[in-house]
Amino acid sequence: MTLTVREFRAADSEAVSDVVRVVLPYLVTTPEKVAWEVANAPAARRYRVFVAEFDGRVVGTARAGLILDSAQPGQATVNVNVLPEHRGRGVGGALLAAAENHVQASGAVSAHSWVLDDAESRGFVERHGYQRGRSSKFQRLDLAVAALPPLEIPPGVELRAASDFAGDPRPLYELDTEAARDEPSAVELDAMPYQDWLAMYWDRPDLDRDLTTVAVVDGVAAAFSGAQTDGRTRYWSAMTGTLRAYRGRGLAKLAKNQSLHRAKAAGYTEALTGNDDENGPMLAINRWFGYQPSATEWVYKRDL
Ligand SMILES: CC(C)(COP(=O)(O)OP(=O)(O)OC[C@H]1O[C@@H](n2cnc3c(N)ncnc32)[C@H](O)[C@@H]1OP(=O)(O)O)[C@@H](O)C(=O)NCCC(=O)NCCS
Repeated sequence: MTLTVREFRAADSEAVSDVVRVVLPYLVTTPEKVAWEVANAPAARRYRVFVAEFDGRVVGTARAGLILDSAQPGQATVNVNVLPEHRGRGVGGALLAAAENHVQASGAVSAHSWVLDDAESRGFVERHGYQRGRSSKFQRLDLAVAALPPLEIPPGVELRAASDFAGDPRPLYELDTEAARDEPSAVELDAMPYQDWLAMYWDRPDLDRDLTTVAVVDGVAAAFSGAQTDGRTRYWSAMTGTLRAYRGRGLAKLAKNQSLHRAKAAGYTEALTGNDDENGPMLAINRWFGYQPSATEWVYKRDL
């Protein structure tokens, strides 16, 4: 059998999505999202997807690019996924080399990789010189049976859909980026330009602007909970955030609760998310809803 590693073509969308879905069933992945990310990433991100084939069948994929939303330049992400039945035959190593070469040629000095907490995955990146950093949990709520907390909207607070901000999403950009600066994470997300935010987050095909909910206090978009979906049954909370001055008043819970209620009513049956193990407030909120951890993931880093 001949192993080939090559760049992604649009016709690979389904196969790449299938690989990611098998290896990371905790995420919400669709062929449309895979194709859209490759076609629409800002040029400066130098985002590339590589595929590995055995005799024409896609058995693994690597997704790689520069991190745009950090003031520290030269940081990259490199994520490799190989179908379980094709492991141990050099596929992951070949994909990792292609991805690292690409980000290095694009100016990266370090690569971050998100790695599941199993001996095989950890051993792979450790043998390739990566060092372990922070951990996080994938979490899941069975929305089909969950008894969501009742929705009690305090006086002075208005819940709006993100679609109400379609004419001017800038308040959501301000909210998202202020919250992202305070999220415990391996990479400081402290420098996201508005145009890149529009391109990478607001214009995504999987962002559900009706389920994404914003808590508005005295005209200020103070907290939000973002919803990305597969358009059928699976719902992913990409980010929940509250402006610093408005934290500790229940606004994140409120925005997420409204979003989950509406998702359930729309027929979504699985709510998924990922939280850093040191994000006390967000873990507390998700526990309150009844989310259960489903897998642990580590961020590994290598200086290139
Ligand atoms: C996480 C975040 C959205 C919470 O916003 P908020 O509006 O203050 O949240 P709420 O007031 O609705 O609820 C916070 C809950 O966390 C609890 N909490 C606060 N700090 C805590 C800590 N250090 N450890 C444990 N629980 C904590 C609060 O007691 C509250 O729970 P309670 O209502 O049962 O008492 C906000 O801190 C934020 O924007 N952080 C930065 C962005 C981020 O990390 N987002 C999550 C990404 S996955």
